[in-house]
Amino acid sequence: ERLPELLRGMPKAELHIHIEGSLEPELIFALAQRNRVAIPYASVEELRSAYAFSNLQSFLDIYYAGASVLLTEQDFYDMAHAYLARAATDNVAHTEIFFDPQTHTARGVAIDTVINGLHRACVDAQKQWGLSAVLILCFLRHLSEEDAFATLEQALPLRDKFIGVGLDSSELGHPPEKFAKVFAKCRSLGLRLVAHAGEEGPPAYIWSALDVLKVERIDHGVQSVHDALLMQRLAQDRIPLTVCPLSNQKLRVFPDLADHNLGALLDAGLVATVNSDDPAYFGGYINENFTQTFAATGLTAQHAYQLAYNSFEGSFIEASQKRVFQ
Ligand code: HPA
Ligand code: ZN
Repeated sequence: ERLPELLRGMPKAELHIHIEGSLEPELIFALAQRNRVAIPYASVEELRSAYAFSNLQSFLDIYYAGASVLLTEQDFYDMAHAYLARAATDNVAHTEIFFDPQTHTARGVAIDTVINGLHRACVDAQKQWGLSAVLILCFLRHLSEEDAFATLEQALPLRDKFIGVGLDSSELGHPPEKFAKVFAKCRSLGLRLVAHAGEEGPPAYIWSALDVLKVERIDHGVQSVHDALLMQRLAQDRIPLTVCPLSNQKLRVFPDLADHNLGALLDAGLVATVNSDDPAYFGGYINENFTQTFAATGLTAQHAYQLAYNSFEGSFIEASQKRVFQ
């Protein structure tokens, strides 16, 4: 079978990866020891066995607990370096990495510690593997817009170390319009804009991410299939969707990978892409997302080329750079 080889070998961009979601249980334990942080699990195996989720919130609870071992700039560097090394072996040529500063500043970690550690790993990835890596700061939507503004203010002295902002965490009950003012401010600063929408939430959240927040890309967006007019809008405006199939399976957005609508999105002409979301928690990095999804749904080599092409089209790299890959 040649398709898995094609999927693994093709150059690709990853546009939806939460760096805290790349923290493997082994590294959680190593950092807990290094920093003398107590964690309520006796072993790596016991921690990994707790990774059984019923929805987004059940995952977020354990994901935030895992991030509590991160304290120093070196911790953030080590976490990002491990992800970037892994991405390089999956033939990722470019990656746009989400990070959640509020998860760390709430524990007393300075935002400079977070951003400087992650950024140094991105600089080194370019040197070591020729892998281009940039950062996108995500606001936690279960917190207030005031809190997001305070985070933006803390981050602005490091403005040259991240390219944009996103919106993540608990979707239901926290619609995009809750963050209208802070996204308008980010837009005026020339930051690139993305938001999670339509993972568990309704198509209305995708509409407001586009029309109120004015985002350039939708993270997940798989619920758009329930709204024909929205599908037309996404296709016409070539709004990329950063789809994460293994995440959707593990968080029960789809009962089974075979039920995933990635093929339907592509066949409707949408700029859908494949991404890993939180690979340490969902059982696979980007190539595993490609191979398992193709095996389960019967997508073809033509879909593979389209997805690789879409990943560069949907990225924030310069147009001149994109032509190198496309
Ligand atoms: N959805 C929302 N917030 C998140 C996710 C996700 O899939 N992963 C990490 N934070
Ligand atoms: Zn996500």
